[in-house]
Amino acid sequence: MAKRDEDTKPILPGKGASDYERYLRTDELLALQKLPENLSHKDEMTFLVVHQSSELLMKGAAFELERAHEFLANSDFGNAARLIRRSISMIEPPIELLHILETITPCDYHVIRAGLGHGSGLDSPGFLALLHIGPRLGKVFRDQLDAVGITLVEIYRRHEQFFGLHDVAERLLDFDERMQIFRFHHLKLAERIIGGRVVGTMGTPVEVLQQRMESWLYKDLWDVRNQITAAANEPDASRKN
Ligand code: HEM
Repeated sequence: MAKRDEDTKPILPGKGASDYERYLRTDELLALQKLPENLSHKDEMTFLVVHQSSELLMKGAAFELERAHEFLANSDFGNAARLIRRSISMIEPPIELLHILETITPCDYHVIRAGLGHGSGLDSPGFLALLHIGPRLGKVFRDQLDAVGITLVEIYRRHEQFFGLHDVAERLLDFDERMQIFRFHHLKLAERIIGGRVVGTMGTPVEVLQQRMESWLYKDLWDVRNQITAAANEPDASRKN
């Protein structure tokens, strides 16, 4: 019995009754939400938990993309693709979490919104970190194409030979697509809750969210499909391929 106590007693420094709580700093983490008696509306707990969880996941996703950037700069395509894949897996839950907020009714949301000040997703540290690493990843990818001396369309034509670079290209496309999907679901959420013809807490019209959906991180990766299809549609295409 005494031996068992020894085994379970916390040995890590910090606050918390167990090493689990100390390592993860759950006391601090779980104190980051308002106390139930201070909530403007009972739904505010969900609103807080969804936003904070999304920030954590987007932070993790941007961290992995920074690592992928380093691997890519060193021409380690396998590890770059592996970490971009992981990062994408971390962007998917925030997309799912948006749907939870669709269960808040428009009227109840306005009770919560009254306490947000100028708080807006435009200042989301997680999303901004993803927007910051995105173009830099694209640049280092193009640098690698230049170093090999090959065009993007050639990577797609000869994908078996250039498996590593092709894999990175496809994972970057996945990332770009997920960012667009996040924006699409977020736009629908905003339209459902506050409407499509109003302004946000920072004064941005919801229509602007619609325009932002048109922004691509890696336009060339989408365009390469057009080039391939155009080439395939040429009359002598079968002879070329
Ligand atoms: C009730 C739920 C929500 C509503 C009504 C809403 C509404 C809005 C509005 C109106 C904007 C435009 C800027 C402004 O505020 O003036 C915006 C921007 C933004 N929001 Fe939300 N939002 C909600 C939930 C979320 C959640 C859960 C996230 C996840 C972190 C999020 C992330 C963002 C981001 C990243 C932007 C900037 C969008 C971009 O750059 O395309 N929002 N939101």
